[in-house]
Amino acid sequence: MYQSKISGLGFYVPDNVVTNEDLSKIMDTNDEWIQERTGIQQRRHIVRGQDTTLSMGVKAANIAIERSGVVKDDIDFIVFATISPDYYFPGPGVELQKELGLKTVGALDVRNQCSGFVYALSVADQFIKTGMYKNILVVASEVQSLGLDMTTRGRAVSVIFGDGAGAVVVTRSDDGSGILSTHLHSEGEHAKELAVLAPGMGGRWVTDIIAENNPEDESYFPYMNGQFVFKHAVVRFSEVIMEGLQANNLQVSDIDMLIPHQANLRISQFIQKKFGLNDDQVFNNIQKYGNTTAASIPIALTEAWEEGKIKKGDTVVLAAFGSGFTWASAIIKW
Ligand code: ACO
Repeated sequence: MYQSKISGLGFYVPDNVVTNEDLSKIMDTNDEWIQERTGIQQRRHIVRGQDTTLSMGVKAANIAIERSGVVKDDIDFIVFATISPDYYFPGPGVELQKELGLKTVGALDVRNQCSGFVYALSVADQFIKTGMYKNILVVASEVQSLGLDMTTRGRAVSVIFGDGAGAVVVTRSDDGSGILSTHLHSEGEHAKELAVLAPGMGGRWVTDIIAENNPEDESYFPYMNGQFVFKHAVVRFSEVIMEGLQANNLQVSDIDMLIPHQANLRISQFIQKKFGLNDDQVFNNIQKYGNTTAASIPIALTEAWEEGKIKKGDTVVLAAFGSGFTWASAIIKW
């Protein structure tokens, strides 16, 4: 059986920095509340007309491709993770194929919220393991800012999220390095604890909502039962990291770098403390970018790599938890 490795990685965030102070001018919130509960100091929001989910994904993908040494014509498949596509359909995978000028390869869209990148990476890994493909482009990009309730009503959710994109090229590996295993989970019982309920074919569709034209309607905006999510996140993060380590006969002490989904600094710190990891073994950048949902892991992974914090031979653990609930991990020998 073949093995796959990350041969190139990149990220892109929009230039527009939105500080906690900026948010406090448009809603009843403050820097102290946000930092104390989430660790976030600032995030990036796109400027309408300048960036989209697709354009950010393209920028991140171009960096990843260049660093991978893989030529565009050798990319066999695209996996694109997002919950904020530019169109309701088709998803951004096909748009990426066009924008990058790739051959008419398959393009799969993954919608697994904050776990999206790890799910997408797992899909790529399986296609390479079976021998079907050699080089797969995995992209995660999110524009959260346009979908948030930026009034005091939505403050418990809207201060957390940011925009950005990350990408990796996953390539067949012949030197023993690469993705050792991935672990995916879901529990739909909690689907509505962190969700956007509208517009949906199962309930009201866009035309119904327009007809109602009700400004009080909150169903367009993300709802989150914050404390409930927090409690489940810390349990599932721990479980799925242990599952990944055990599947590869590894111990917590073997972790060289843990890249958790950047949900909330307090969640990452809780996991770090629980596993007794030191500051060099866990990478966080939510302070600068907020929670970028599917894009947070590839952005953090790329930044850690750019800063020289991931070296050849390192055991790297990716772990995600998000709406669904879904959770996932990937264990990589770099
Ligand atoms: N600014 C100021 N005050 C606020 C804000 C805000 N942005 N948001 C809420 N408040 C107020 C509330 O109205 C409430 O006021 P009250 O006591 O007068 O009713 C008070 O602050 C406390 O609100 P809680 O919702 O209880 O705040 P909590 O301490 O639970 O913190 C938070 C909220 C940060 C969301 C927390 O529950 C949490 O960390 N949850 C984990 C979920 C998470 O991190 N999700 C990330 C995205 S999901 C993912 O990526 C998996």
